[in-house]
Amino acid sequence: MTPPPAAPGVTGEERPTPRFPGTGGQASRTPAAGFAATPAAPGVTGEESPAPRFPEAGRQAPRAPAAGAADVPPAPAEAAPSAHRTPQPAAVAPTAPVDDEQTPQPTTAAVIPAPRPSRPLRIGVIGGGPGGLYAAALLKRLGPERDITVWERNAPDDTFGFGVVLSDETLGGIEHADPVIYRALQDEFVRWDDIDIVHRGRTLTSGGHGFAALGRRRLLEILHGRCASLGVRLRFCTPAPPAAELAAAYDLVIAADGVHSLTRDAHADTFAPRITTHRCRYIWLAADFAFDAFRFEIAETAHGVMQLHGYPYAPDASTVIIEMREEVWRAAGFDTADEQESTDLCAKIFAEALGGRALRSNSSSWVAFRTVVNDRWSHGNTVLLGDAAHTAHFSIGSGTKLAVEDALALAACVEEQPDLPAALAAYETERRPVVESTQRAAAASLRWFEELAGYVEQPPRQFAFNLLTRSRRVTHDNLRLRDAAFTDAVERDFGCPPGTPPMFTPFTLRGLTLRNRVVVSPMDMYSAVNGVPGDFHLVHLGARALGGAGLVMTEMVCVSAEGRITPGCTGLYTPEQAAAWRRVTDFVHDHSPGTAIGVQLGHSGRKGSTKLMWDGIDQPLDEGNWRIAAASPIPYRPGVNQVPHALDRVGLSDIREQFAAATGRAAHCGFDLLELHCAHGYLLSGFLSPLTNGRTDAYGGSLDNRLRFPLEVFDAMRGVWPDDRPMTVRISATDWAQGGTTAEDAVEIARAFAAHGADAIDVSTGQVVPDEQPEYGRSYQTPYADRIRNALGVPVIAVGAISSWDDVNSLLLAGRADLCALARPHLYDPHWTLHAAADQDYAGAAALWPDPYRAGSRKPPAGRTDAPKPRLTLS
Ligand SMILES: Cc1cc2nc3c(=O)[nH]c(=O)nc-3n(C[C@H](O)[C@H](O)[C@H](O)COP(=O)(O)OP(=O)(O)OC[C@H]3O[C@@H](n4cnc5c(N)ncnc54)[C@H](O)[C@@H]3O)c2cc1C
Ligand SMILES: Cc1cc2nc3c(=O)[nH]c(=O)nc-3n(C[C@H](O)[C@H](O)[C@H](O)COP(=O)(O)O)c2cc1C
Repeated sequence: MTPPPAAPGVTGEERPTPRFPGTGGQASRTPAAGFAATPAAPGVTGEESPAPRFPEAGRQAPRAPAAGAADVPPAPAEAAPSAHRTPQPAAVAPTAPVDDEQTPQPTTAAVIPAPRPSRPLRIGVIGGGPGGLYAAALLKRLGPERDITVWERNAPDDTFGFGVVLSDETLGGIEHADPVIYRALQDEFVRWDDIDIVHRGRTLTSGGHGFAALGRRRLLEILHGRCASLGVRLRFCTPAPPAAELAAAYDLVIAADGVHSLTRDAHADTFAPRITTHRCRYIWLAADFAFDAFRFEIAETAHGVMQLHGYPYAPDASTVIIEMREEVWRAAGFDTADEQESTDLCAKIFAEALGGRALRSNSSSWVAFRTVVNDRWSHGNTVLLGDAAHTAHFSIGSGTKLAVEDALALAACVEEQPDLPAALAAYETERRPVVESTQRAAAASLRWFEELAGYVEQPPRQFAFNLLTRSRRVTHDNLRLRDAAFTDAVERDFGCPPGTPPMFTPFTLRGLTLRNRVVVSPMDMYSAVNGVPGDFHLVHLGARALGGAGLVMTEMVCVSAEGRITPGCTGLYTPEQAAAWRRVTDFVHDHSPGTAIGVQLGHSGRKGSTKLMWDGIDQPLDEGNWRIAAASPIPYRPGVNQVPHALDRVGLSDIREQFAAATGRAAHCGFDLLELHCAHGYLLSGFLSPLTNGRTDAYGGSLDNRLRFPLEVFDAMRGVWPDDRPMTVRISATDWAQGGTTAEDAVEIARAFAAHGADAIDVSTGQVVPDEQPEYGRSYQTPYADRIRNALGVPVIAVGAISSWDDVNSLLLAGRADLCALARPHLYDPHWTLHAAADQDYAGAAALWPDPYRAGSRKPPAGRTDAPKPRLTLS
């Protein structure tokens, strides 16, 4: 069985820290007086410092900007470089923190970039959005000798859209890079703390989030003003010349021309853009009052579920975004409504949120969100920036933030690197991981809203918690830091006894009660001889059982010698094998009371007769290959793997009997739970997937037909397996390949097994075909588990890149999983569960240290750093 590659961000911080020029990679910033720390835009967390609260007031009304704050004048329609402009101190690096532009702080020679002739002097910027303008301002500030022109096809006051949210992290970067812009922005922000979730007539509030927003138009005015005062040439109402023309005339061309970038299209061969249009429709609108919190409101209408996202951006104005699935949008008549009709209808549907007030549009139209990804961000001297390079769904509020951060990084790289090619390469290297991480969070959030209708039946607090943690950046632990009262209430509703984290609440499947929610996921050890588990298996599984998990699963145990993947796989087809497995279950039950042990039974199908994992995964044996069988004669890798023979009726019936016989042995061995392996391209998975099942008999074709043999096997096993012991089924919920099993199919597959008596579905993905395109990331398979659970009400085991106990608690509490299986983390740490308990100060019955280990149940002290410190200062 192929272990999936390490997912990006699995083991640690999902969000690399953006770099700011001259700060050596870290922005350390003391919030200015009166400046609320803003740890996160909705769903965009990572900053753990909770925002200041407003205890007495209960809730902070959005604060008005300081009167007359901005001393940055709006720019004229075309602002030519001013003859009178105060020359900017070229020698002053934009290091932190420069308090006053007029009185630059002393800098050391080390941070003053030496002028280099290779640096771009003539710069053309296509697009006067936040990204293009900010890049122009910074590059001009860093090199006043530069000649910089920005082309913007719209008029300066033509801007569409309403409020933009910027995080504390981004503001910290702006503060260091250009204090003038920072000060102007700071004076404009409205700030607030709470998120309201309104669902089925109940409003639940979660505090401590900290937001700062301002109007997009005001942001652009500030940037126009700053560009003009620095001497950037702004050409409004002027489409940029073609990119190729600019590239010939300028040293550097910055394509900040937005989501529909023509520059990107002109060099599509190099940039290789991939654009995905999603299935919801949304519209940006505004209301002429300020919400006193970020508001998510769900409307269950006769046409389907719709949602409102609202947040203030001025003392008298809020952004309002309405979104819904396309079929709901059509059913509600929005597809034929004009701008005013749409605006009025939205106001009517969300009348309660708006207090009966009207909504306002500004060239607003319904759009389907487009995710933009480019393989490369530069072509010669032309570079993509902001929405032209990448987009992230608005629900995590990151579009403007990413564009501004891109501009910062680009300006810094141009300064730091010896030449332009190096600068553009460094810019992409620096920004890509940040952008990809944000795009992963945005994709999770986007999908969550696409599937919103599946969650509306959740209990109100669980629904709210689920919504808040949807992007996976906000977790149980950091939500607790922001608002412990809210998290406590969610835990109470979930049934956590006081002081018990969600992962240490028991869970019952049929007659088996697991003491906690952690499962050691099946892992093939390829260490058996003739299918007999040996000392290695006893020690391996015994150690994991002592490590505290609620359920320890064996590897895939094969039902016949031909059904093995490799010669090192275990089996349950001989009495000797059964006796050896009995030794393992006895050890677990005797020495780790409270831990259950389950067996996974399977048959390798077309992926059989291959080498041990470390000798060449999925590679045929050098010698001694056996004949392999499958649904259809389709080899795993043509020309590499054997062509399997398609099973006939007799073959099918033999294999069904082998599964039943192995089940009988498993019952006698004392296993507590039985899992049928229908995932990862092995025999039964090969029947389920349309890519591997080309049969024309009753076992191929429709999904019902493809399910027939796996269900026959399941029924035969269920008939032998003791009634009070649970059975689970592992499936690949998507093949990650065109024409393969989809998430929708997976729901139907799960429904069928549940109807036949499966007690839970263990939801994995992929490994069915070699040319799959998985979207790895933290907890990347859990949306598939989540979907099955919430569509069918069937318990699910989530698995895949779940590496922290915080993620386990979050998934459980949000109702996305009932149990969490972890594989590789248990190879790293057999005591994963006990250590998770220690980390959370939990010492209850759900994670008891074995008596002989109790002396080591506290984290060993870290040595000298823990020692008491002498007093060294007198103040
Ligand atoms: C209609 C709309 C409304 C939005 N409203 C909001 C909002 O209320 N809040 C929020 O946070 N985000 C909003 N966004 C998203 C947000 O604007 C972007 O994520 C963010 O502005 C990205 O900045 P950017 O500079 O990369 O691109 P943009 O802000 O899109 O700027 C690109 C600019 O390039 C100009 N341009 C394009 N091609 C040419 C050309 N050939 N010649 C000259 N000029 C050109 C465009 O007119 C545009 O001004 C909105 C987006 C759209 C499309
Ligand atoms: C060495 C190894 C062997 C595995 N063998 C099996 C197996 O026998 N049966 C199975 O269903 N999954 C098997 N898997 C997949 C894991 O159960 C799990 O689904 C996958 O590793 C993702 O979880 P993780 O990110 O926690 O590692 C194996 C994984 C690894 C790392």
